[in-house]
Amino acid sequence: MTEINYSVAEYVEDLRRITAEETDEKAIFQRLAPLAQKLATTPGWITDKHRHCDKAQGFGFHTLHEEDDHTNAVFLLSWLPDRGTPAHDHGTWAVVAGIEGEEKETMWTRVDDASTPGHAELTKGTEAIMTAGKVSCLPSGDIHAVWNVADEISMSLHTYGKHVNFTDRSQFDPEAKTASPYIVTVD
Ligand SMILES: [Fe+2]
Repeated sequence: MTEINYSVAEYVEDLRRITAEETDEKAIFQRLAPLAQKLATTPGWITDKHRHCDKAQGFGFHTLHEEDDHTNAVFLLSWLPDRGTPAHDHGTWAVVAGIEGEEKETMWTRVDDASTPGHAELTKGTEAIMTAGKVSCLPSGDIHAVWNVADEISMSLHTYGKHVNFTDRSQFDPEAKTASPYIVTVD
């Protein structure tokens, strides 16, 4: 059997230590990003079940870890070709590391004052392609959209301060100028 140099269990141990010692998101990112990159580029721990994608939502959301209170949440996401997410926030911080394939990440900025429930005005920001070993750190409040732009399934490692189905986060339709709750189907 191949020895795995860095395991999900070791990553979770490191994540727990870091979030116990740091409250500042920048400090968490500084310490966690290289470890997320290390796990995402470690071969051997990903199995066939992680490749399963939910056809209805366009991606598979596989739980690798969460605490009883939903913090320190780690997921492997598998994306069908030409599928992705609407613009969304997370209601917490997020660290995303590319495992394989090509995912386009589009950043959005909210420009209204969020005073009208269900209404949101967004302007488009930068776009970047996430590939194996690249890491994107998103502070609480950041808004992005992710799209698999390749012909194959893409995979990425997502770590959140808290499981995103428990943070009251939103999805946005920039054209219709709407905001609504965003709950994902977890595999
Ligand atoms: Fe996201």
